[in-house]
Amino acid sequence: MTWRWSVCVFALDVLFCLFYGVLTFKDQSVSLNGKWSLSNSNGSLILPADVPGCVHTALQKRGYIQDPYFRFNDLSYRWIAFDNWTYTTTFNVPGELKSEQDFMSLFMVHVFILKFSKTICLCMNRSRQKILLVFDGVDTVASVSLNALILGGTDNMFRRYDFSVRELLTDGDNVLKVTLFSPVVYASERSEAHSSYTVPPECPPDVQKGECHVNFIRKEQSSFSWDWGPSFPTMGLWKEVRLEGFDVIQLIQVSPVPLYNSSLSQWMLQVELLVDAVQTTDGNITLSIPELNSEETFTVRFPTGRSGISFTLNINTSSDVNLWWPNGHGDRPFHLLTISCLQDEFMILNTETKVYFRTVELVQEPIPDSTGLSFYFRINGKPIFLKGSNWIPAHSFQDRVTPAVLRNLLQSAVDANMNALRVWGGGVYEQDLFYSICDEMGIMVWQDFMFACAMYPTEDDFIQTVREEVIQQVQRLKSHPSIIVWSGNNENEAALATNWFNIPSSQRLLYLKDYVTLYVYNIRAIVQEEDQSRPFLVSSPTNGAESEQEGWVAENPYDLRFGDTHFYSYTSDCWDWTAFPRTRFASEYGFQSWPSFSTLQAVSVEEDWNVTSHFFSHRQHHEDGNQQMLQQAALHFHLPNSTDPLKSFTDTLYLTQVMQAQCVKAQTEFYRRSQSEIIEGEGHTMGALYWQLNDIWQAPSWSSIEFGGKWKMLHYFAQNFFAPVLPVGFEDGGTLFIYAVSDLSDLKLQAVMTMYSWSDLDPVCALQSDPLLVSAGSAALIYKHNVDALLAGCGNCTQFTCLLTFHLQDSSGQQGPTNHHFLSSPNVADGLQSPNITAKVQQDEAGYSVTLNTAAVAPFVWLDVGKIPGRFSSNGFLMVTRNMTVSFTAWRPTSVAELSDSLTVTSLGDIY
Ligand SMILES: *[C@@H]1O[C@H](CO)[C@@H](O)[C@H](O)[C@H]1NC(C)=O
Ligand SMILES: *[C@@H]1O[C@H](CO)[C@@H](O)[C@H](O)[C@H]1NC(C)=O
Ligand SMILES: *[C@@H]1O[C@H](CO)[C@@H](O)[C@H](O)[C@H]1NC(C)=O
Ligand SMILES: *[C@@H]1O[C@H](CO)[C@@H](O)[C@H](O)[C@H]1NC(C)=O
Ligand SMILES: *[C@@H]1O[C@H](CO)[C@@H](O)[C@H](O)[C@H]1NC(C)=O
Ligand SMILES: *[C@@H]1O[C@H](CO)[C@@H](O)[C@H](O)[C@H]1NC(C)=O
Ligand SMILES: *[C@@H]1O[C@H](CO)[C@@H](O)[C@H](O)[C@H]1NC(C)=O
Ligand SMILES: *[C@@H]1O[C@H](CO)[C@@H](O)[C@H](O)[C@H]1NC(C)=O
Repeated sequence: MTWRWSVCVFALDVLFCLFYGVLTFKDQSVSLNGKWSLSNSNGSLILPADVPGCVHTALQKRGYIQDPYFRFNDLSYRWIAFDNWTYTTTFNVPGELKSEQDFMSLFMVHVFILKFSKTICLCMNRSRQKILLVFDGVDTVASVSLNALILGGTDNMFRRYDFSVRELLTDGDNVLKVTLFSPVVYASERSEAHSSYTVPPECPPDVQKGECHVNFIRKEQSSFSWDWGPSFPTMGLWKEVRLEGFDVIQLIQVSPVPLYNSSLSQWMLQVELLVDAVQTTDGNITLSIPELNSEETFTVRFPTGRSGISFTLNINTSSDVNLWWPNGHGDRPFHLLTISCLQDEFMILNTETKVYFRTVELVQEPIPDSTGLSFYFRINGKPIFLKGSNWIPAHSFQDRVTPAVLRNLLQSAVDANMNALRVWGGGVYEQDLFYSICDEMGIMVWQDFMFACAMYPTEDDFIQTVREEVIQQVQRLKSHPSIIVWSGNNENEAALATNWFNIPSSQRLLYLKDYVTLYVYNIRAIVQEEDQSRPFLVSSPTNGAESEQEGWVAENPYDLRFGDTHFYSYTSDCWDWTAFPRTRFASEYGFQSWPSFSTLQAVSVEEDWNVTSHFFSHRQHHEDGNQQMLQQAALHFHLPNSTDPLKSFTDTLYLTQVMQAQCVKAQTEFYRRSQSEIIEGEGHTMGALYWQLNDIWQAPSWSSIEFGGKWKMLHYFAQNFFAPVLPVGFEDGGTLFIYAVSDLSDLKLQAVMTMYSWSDLDPVCALQSDPLLVSAGSAALIYKHNVDALLAGCGNCTQFTCLLTFHLQDSSGQQGPTNHHFLSSPNVADGLQSPNITAKVQQDEAGYSVTLNTAAVAPFVWLDVGKIPGRFSSNGFLMVTRNMTVSFTAWRPTSVAELSDSLTVTSLGDIY
């Protein structure tokens, strides 16, 4: 190269610098996602594999295995998780990271060093000072090597790992290998090494067909099987892999957390920056929220390497902070925070992020007429009843959980009037997008740490990896306003207190010590250090403050006077509300049902469509689950008895959904109407999160949404039983009670009741209550009447021939949905007929609609369009008018013809 050429190149370099270098030191991030090569340990299988991804998905994509969810494939593919697998990729170091112009630049710098300042020098040297190889998620136990040199190992799916690799990169091909060790073998070896005492449970119940010792590996606990899910112990690079190069500092995480000082009536914004600095770096950092006229500059010194630095930006008290509110209680505005750092005239860091302002308190204080403590959440000073469900992993293979899947499920939650979800502790800390959508939609998240239904070891290396996991997850998630509480684990306090694992009393202290070490001395301590903006509970269920008083494990964590409860009873009659616990907060309760026929068809064949088939019992992972569903249904319904085997099968699926919907409705309505009452010290219920929102595969479970997104009857019921204004009817000792529940403002409401005979669509009689002022966030008795007197005063009604519908109204009209109360069970009702419902699908500007016509009173009218994805505006309803129109929102293009061909209409009278 001639000197003239060099000058030319230099001129270009200067231009280049002016364009971006002088303005800012931009970090370079180069993705290593994409096609890697995957092989098993003996090399019999070598195939391309996507990163992010997992071994199962890769094998299926290449046709080595079928759909893992099909029929009994969960058993056929057990071998996959017993083998070791290696992911390999070969890459050239991209120019931006290790420029070929290194030499040239250096030369130029030497030539012009005197003339031009440091500005040019730094800018010219385009080879990055530090290059990190970053894995956002490795599932799970692996050894990582680059160019045959071992960089290190991984043992925790929930951690981000990075390795400094600048000196190891070569100019030619670089070979990166990640060898994944069998998680099943690892878990069992770790359990064996823990020789002094066992850490139960050793294995899941046989009915789950799972693998053992999952508590010894920091991995999605349900991946070794659960009572609603298959065993697919995944292995893979389940999140992004990339190279990150930088010259000065690199921002790893920015976590703004607003804190409110109520005595000063002032907001402060705590901003934590996690950075990696090539060398000790000084700078002036400016935090600014222009909308709130708030800006401050701080002088900082970042030490070499990784460090977290915290700043406090005081928010101008005269500015209007817009508050974030949960769904149904207000909007969700945010303010933009800009963060920039100048080192002399260089911008060494520059970023912008959303900040949502809200406060959350978990109120546990004495309440009148009770010996216990309250347990409810106050958001921005307002007590809020939590309505929602529990979230489990949306797929066994996380790479299949696309943004569309997440958005659809969370939209379904909001469409059912939910304002809260509990991210259950046996799954994964969800991806960023999950929490961003919850922020947007106003879904409050009860976030468990990922420990569930087990004792856990506390060896040093286990505790160390958990500590790192907790630090990283809290730093990643704490700026999301949607997260309102952290909880240490799922059901482990209860497991210890009520001795699920038959631990001899002489050994109990040992396990208690491990429990306190893990959740209190480590997890709780870290969370309290990292995040002062939301409460922490050690477990769920727990007695909260009372558990703490009792040394962190209460004698009875299910005490109804304290904290939250989980409650399941399959044998007691779910229509009998007196069997439900009048708890402060119901964080889990539920009943199973089967998914619809179209969902099962995708993973079964004709011989499986029979309630006595092997498939039917194989998919049921809860002991006696199928029996329990039918027994519960038989308490109030005749069981299907068609001589047509397929009809008998599909009628059974339908009836399990009717049973589930009705059971969860009864229980949820009980909790909502109990929010303003204390009866014998119990009540003041402030949360109803049923188990469970979604499914991991096509199988019977407690979910209200099937795998694939189709709503079960329960989810349509939830739309009503979680409505902001709701009438609740029930009987107690021969008296009918109607309560009015309002989440909204004070309302002057009246209950309007209509009695129908099962045999006639014309109402028998109508009644109204006196108007009552129902204050915001309360439940109040609005009507009460002796049942016999009510029936006698209403034509020829008896409890067997009639049923009651009712709604609330104020001067502006009906408020909330129309509800109903069966005065007897349908299996003893007199006059229930086959209603001969006809349906007509139409399309207009608003979309598709179905107009129904019935010849008789029809309970549980169910519209099903098979495999066409979408949902109806209402479904599973009671039809007491001849005609009714519901709309259908399709999630892909369809037509009137396709919908008409697929549509089936079933009501209770049609299955006998
Ligand atoms: C290689 O391993 C697979 C299981 O991963 C096994 O099925 C196969 O028999 C092995 N092949 C040889 C040659 O050992
Ligand atoms: C997996 O790797 C471990 C550790 O190297 C080894 O002991 C084990 O035999 C390997 N498993 C298979 C199936 O090759
Ligand atoms: C920070 O700002 C002060 C005041 O403007 C200035 O004197 C100092 O040089 C700056 N420090 C750095 C590292 O830029
Ligand atoms: C259901 O399966 C059982 C056992 O496989 C069989 O005996 C029975 O005939 C089947 N019933 C129908 C209706 O197909
Ligand atoms: C009650 O039933 C009797 C006999 O079925 C009938 O004659 C009478 O009209 C009914 N009364 C009312 C109010 O429906
Ligand atoms: C429904 O149709 C059947 C058969 O035509 C008939 O016997 C029955 O009375 C009809 N049901 C009603 C409520 O009209
Ligand atoms: C109800 O539907 C039937 C048949 O679709 C129709 O003949 C009738 O006019 C409708 N009645 C009302 C009130 O819309
Ligand atoms: C099915 O059950 C219904 C309701 O118990 C009964 O009326 C009907 O006769 C039964 N049908 C058969 C075929 O057993």
